[in-house]
Amino acid sequence: MKYGYFDDKNREYVISQPDTPLPWSNYLGNENYFGLISNTAGGYSFYQDARLRRLTRYRYNNVPTDFGGRYIYIRDNKTNEFWSSTWQPTRTELDSYECRHGMGYTQIKSSKNAIESNVTYFVPNGENLEIWKFEIKNISDQVADISLFSFIEFCLWDANDDATNFQRNYNIGEVEIDKNVIYHKTEYRERRNHFAYFACSEDITGFDTQREDFLGRYRGFDKPCVVETGKSTNSVAHGWSPIGSHQINLKLKAEETKTIIFVLGYQENPENEKFEADGQTINKKYCSPIIEKYTTIDDVDKAFSQLNTYWDSLLNIFNVETQNEHVNRSVNIWNAYQNMITFNMSRSASMFESGIGRGMGFRDSTQDLLGFVHMVPERAKERILDIAATQMESGGAYHQYQPLTKRGNDAVGGNFNDDPLWLILAVTAYIKETGDFGILVEDVPFDNKPGSEDTLYNHLERSISYTLERLGPHGLPLIGRADWNDCLNLNCFSDEPGQSFQTTENREGKTAESIFIAGLFCYATNEMASLCDNINEEKIAQKYRALSLKMKEAIENYGWDGDWFLRAYDFFGDKIGSKECEEGQIFIEPQGICIMGNVGKNDGKAEKALTSVKEHLASEHGIVLLHPAYTQYQLRLGEISSYPPGYKENGSVFCHTNPWIMIAEAQMGHADQALDYYLRINPSNREKISEIHRCEPYVYAQTIAGKEAPSFGEAKNSWLTGTAAWNFVAITQWILGIRADYQGLIIDPVLPNDWHSFTIKRKFRDTIYDIDVEKSEIEKTTILIDDQIIDGNKIPIFDDREIVKVKIQVA
Ligand code: BGC
Repeated sequence: MKYGYFDDKNREYVISQPDTPLPWSNYLGNENYFGLISNTAGGYSFYQDARLRRLTRYRYNNVPTDFGGRYIYIRDNKTNEFWSSTWQPTRTELDSYECRHGMGYTQIKSSKNAIESNVTYFVPNGENLEIWKFEIKNISDQVADISLFSFIEFCLWDANDDATNFQRNYNIGEVEIDKNVIYHKTEYRERRNHFAYFACSEDITGFDTQREDFLGRYRGFDKPCVVETGKSTNSVAHGWSPIGSHQINLKLKAEETKTIIFVLGYQENPENEKFEADGQTINKKYCSPIIEKYTTIDDVDKAFSQLNTYWDSLLNIFNVETQNEHVNRSVNIWNAYQNMITFNMSRSASMFESGIGRGMGFRDSTQDLLGFVHMVPERAKERILDIAATQMESGGAYHQYQPLTKRGNDAVGGNFNDDPLWLILAVTAYIKETGDFGILVEDVPFDNKPGSEDTLYNHLERSISYTLERLGPHGLPLIGRADWNDCLNLNCFSDEPGQSFQTTENREGKTAESIFIAGLFCYATNEMASLCDNINEEKIAQKYRALSLKMKEAIENYGWDGDWFLRAYDFFGDKIGSKECEEGQIFIEPQGICIMGNVGKNDGKAEKALTSVKEHLASEHGIVLLHPAYTQYQLRLGEISSYPPGYKENGSVFCHTNPWIMIAEAQMGHADQALDYYLRINPSNREKISEIHRCEPYVYAQTIAGKEAPSFGEAKNSWLTGTAAWNFVAITQWILGIRADYQGLIIDPVLPNDWHSFTIKRKFRDTIYDIDVEKSEIEKTTILIDDQIIDGNKIPIFDDREIVKVKIQVA
């Protein structure tokens, strides 16, 4: 069963029923001001940091689900009936409903009692505010007598504190009301220099700013007293729970339409200009012009069209036309869009990430970059420098940092020994995309400590030496706290309920080794070698090749189990991911990453490993992480065995890892198998099983319950996952085969059997490459530029042309 459909022309997913299996969400904002919005207007907003600057309140894990949002109540004063234009929170049955999630905006249309409404939510580029453009139309032949009530609930800035520290919070709430603008200024009187405002383009009849006065005692958002009676109370919040609500009374003639704009914004004032002369009232000098501008329809429309142009410009950088609609839709629209969202959010705020748990992940963001670097190279550069500045002098990394402070945060620990190696993948991807070798000589501090600056290149070297200084008994990298798999905690031995697997380390980690990190090390050293080739450092390049080779030998000698790559050695030196194990005999991660690190390609190991993946791990819903799943908690393994079989790291289809296998398959020339795996987890291809998949059909989820799980096929944790970047890499770079390289654009497609041709438009270093790929009867794949055959598979850089036409005949 489906709950909507794709409108590819408008780059939208259209939801035609409000009670989707889970709230199906979208994001607003591209720079500093962000919002999360569901298909029924649930969600919240924040400035820069979902934890530290939360503007509005949201209730995770609430019943009914998805509470807290951007609500507009419509009251029919003739019948005294009221409803929500976005279905929630009243959940009144509507005559029609449609939600369109688009690129950076969400539009919800509905009708009831011959009143149509259409609200568009978006954040104008360059502004710290969101717009709700609300259109209401009377489609009856009578005059309609309507009252509208807007509603948001303010969060007292620090979302964690807001949800826990009630003994203080119930006392500190403060607001100011000035005509049709409600200001939220809790803590502004003391150390904050920022406030929020909620404005309305119309003259208002009344307002409310205290939640209890608006709702009435013991009532929920579905039945506010004020809406029921049709009369705002003009309440002024002192403490308790500040909200913003405007009342607007409207008489709409037959067929008359009215547009009303609400603006929710964030404003900082200079420290010495916080107040007016009375020392109490907010100085509105800076925010008033902004409010005035965005309560004007023309300016709002202009901002909306600028937003659309912005997304056009990003999404037109890589366009493909194949015979598979799911490939086209993902590459051209939704996968690229999701990549940008992971760029903005890392793992901080979604319907599954509370915005108070995790900041930006070191490893997460460096991998996410692989998916967005072609769209926003300058911002990718900034991100790389920010991340590198959190690297420690040892070469190790904080596992995460806070976006507001850009400082490493060890709340979830360090010593995830793979972390620093991902930096190499990110930096080399950036240089290949841009040709900006200059980034290598940028001075970057360690751990943000002034005086500790070193070149970015030396940061990369330290990432390598960090691994080399931490090798175990088999010459394989020590795993530390964990590697890519956060839940393989081999030095943890946690035996207390509630203890954090990510910060507990009960044993000294001198033995537990990771074959995954070994494979990643081969990958990263190969990248370093080719980087050095390109900066004329042949000797150093050789050093990296030798290091890669040595690690490869260690994997071949100690990391091979006969039919697949082992996963790890545990604290006691016992194998993990081996036939000898009772459970967890084979893991997906080393199979993908070792082959990507060029291990086993010439001696049959890669082929064997991929056959084993197919035999033991592949399922109709994707490739599971391990098999058989652990049925019991195992002290020596950590969090992985804490999950019931088939869930999360314990044998679900952990989607992030699937593209590694697709890439490996493509590298071994198995186009059909690569595409088959790609389509198994492609969200659009799973739309038809929305009842089973349950998450949004337009974006990847982190996990799909595995074969041992009772809910096999059910997805969870949509949006913020490295799955987005890696699937984009797998399909665009390895199946379609278009890869940015230091000195040109590589074209190396592997064509699935039933594909005859496809076309690609790829903007690369200011030139558009218009590429036609076609299967042909010839013996050797040939590339023609302007009908001239070129040597090899790399198109040189044409910086003197706007468009280059390329034709490829695939043997
Ligand atoms: C984390 C990743 C990690 C993955 C596998 C995700 O939740 O964000 O950093 O690699 O889980 O454990």
